[in-house]
Amino acid sequence: MSKNIPKAFIDSLLEKANIVNIIANYIELKKKGNDYWARCPFHNEKTSSFSVSENKQFFHCFGCGAHGNAIGFLMDHLNQPYPEAIETLANNLGLEIPRDKNTDKLYETRKNIQEILSEAKKDYIEQLKKSPEAISYLKMRKITGDTAKNFQLGYAENNFQSLKKKLIKKYLESDLLNSGLIVKKENNSYDKFRGRIMFPIHDSHGNIIAFGGRIISINSEKPEAKYINSPETILFSKKKTLYNLHFANKDRSTKNNLYIVEGYMDVISLFQAGIKNAVATLGTAVSQENLAQCFKYTKEIICCFDGDKAGVNAAWRCVENIIPIIKDGDAISFVFLPQGNDPDNIIEKGGSKLWEEKIKNKISIEEFIFRKFSKECDLNTASGKTQFLQNINFLLEKLNARILKTMLLESLNKKIGSKYIIKKKNFSPLTKIKKFKTSSILHKAISILMHNPKIKIDENLINDNRIKDNTGIHVLKSIINLIKVKPDINIGRIIENYRTEIIIYDSLQKISTLPVTVYDYPDSEFHACICLFIKNLLKEKMSNAEPSDLESVRSIINEIKELEEKSKKY
Ligand code: UTP
Ligand code: MN
Repeated sequence: MSKNIPKAFIDSLLEKANIVNIIANYIELKKKGNDYWARCPFHNEKTSSFSVSENKQFFHCFGCGAHGNAIGFLMDHLNQPYPEAIETLANNLGLEIPRDKNTDKLYETRKNIQEILSEAKKDYIEQLKKSPEAISYLKMRKITGDTAKNFQLGYAENNFQSLKKKLIKKYLESDLLNSGLIVKKENNSYDKFRGRIMFPIHDSHGNIIAFGGRIISINSEKPEAKYINSPETILFSKKKTLYNLHFANKDRSTKNNLYIVEGYMDVISLFQAGIKNAVATLGTAVSQENLAQCFKYTKEIICCFDGDKAGVNAAWRCVENIIPIIKDGDAISFVFLPQGNDPDNIIEKGGSKLWEEKIKNKISIEEFIFRKFSKECDLNTASGKTQFLQNINFLLEKLNARILKTMLLESLNKKIGSKYIIKKKNFSPLTKIKKFKTSSILHKAISILMHNPKIKIDENLINDNRIKDNTGIHVLKSIINLIKVKPDINIGRIIENYRTEIIIYDSLQKISTLPVTVYDYPDSEFHACICLFIKNLLKEKMSNAEPSDLESVRSIINEIKELEEKSKKY
């Protein structure tokens, strides 16, 4: 939906809105120095570490790290998804969201679907109360009434028209079809979910977006899938959604670690045993979106799989997915449960105590990589060891987290008693596009630019050929272009521009929380960062060059000298 609100309008909203006034509608702010302060609304605290900058149109809590612009504040504080937060802001300023006919229609549909899902949820909850069969199924699965209430579990009657008959009185058939709850075959439309326990699925803000349903009795004549989900709709993308994230992201222990498990029932059993920091994928592999989303809330993701072959394969896909997006400081580990077990039956067998015991056996990403490759290569031979190193280098090529990469390479080399580290870089075009190559010095440059958008920039330096392929520089250039078009832009608005580009957006958010130094000459500092960045690249190039290739080494040394001269001029 947000895609259909013109970007220009969102930017003009942020231009017109004053974050101080917006936030002051909800919490009391006190002016101290240039900024406004309050006790943070996002965590419990006695002193005020929540600051709002009028100049930057940005808030930042020094206690819990919450930060963002006016839209971000409304999303977090009012628990509103993006389009609603924009609407709130627009209402606040008395502005109409411009929409063309198509957008208008889509917006209506979205609202209707949301309503339909909420109504269906209520109805399913009512049906559960009336169905002794469904209740006894939940009892058999050891789910208490409180837990069922907490997860808003329901029951869809085993009837083709039950839900449709109720909803068709209020809603258009087309909206019912769009909601995914009613399906059409030839000229007939009927309930998709029948005779199933219903699990409402929410987005990270707690808005209902879909359902999952589990059969409670098996019809041996017409066997059906044990679980089915809502189809993809304008509200729901299976790949991007995690069950229970809206509760888990509010749980205290999530800050330290967050479990990703495979099923609804696993999350629910863990919850009932007091373990509330668990989310589940929806019958799909753990996607990059899933992982990026989890790292917003936790330092360590612990992925839990069945110890069978399928589980190990799924875990490996997870490793491959995480490599391009993991950042220094993020951790991921894996738990393989005894074959044929899942968290649900571990809890059933031994409660949270047995669970903790199993978690103790978690293995780190490097151990997992080691196990996989050491099985595939004969480490007793030189060529086996070589293959091992090649595999590892190929895998870690896409890893941008520099410290982690070094640590992994060192520890994996050590494991096979090798001192050899392959340095050759061979980026595939895919990783080039996807990754936002980061380095702390470039982060600093981006941070200076975002906090001081008015600085005068030497375009020749930014367009230096040696850095033209660097993805971080691409982002930097794109910010510079943005500022050219809108010279009065501020950090809050800059970041907003990248909201739909999740990896860049994430990085910019992180950069925005770097400690801010007030420089007398921010432009000199900015250019010095870029020079240093180029210099570091040259040094890296030199360490990769064959020492015998004197000509190359000499020319790199010259380049470095030239650069040092040049940097004096800023
Ligand atoms: P499983 O089928 O592995 O769970 O599905 P399970 O432990 O045997 O299920 P219970 O305990 O008997 O209820 C795990 C998850 O995979 C998805 C669902 O999200 C489910 O929670 N799934 C499974 C599907 O989407 N479709 C299926 O047909 C099966
Ligand atoms: Mn199970």
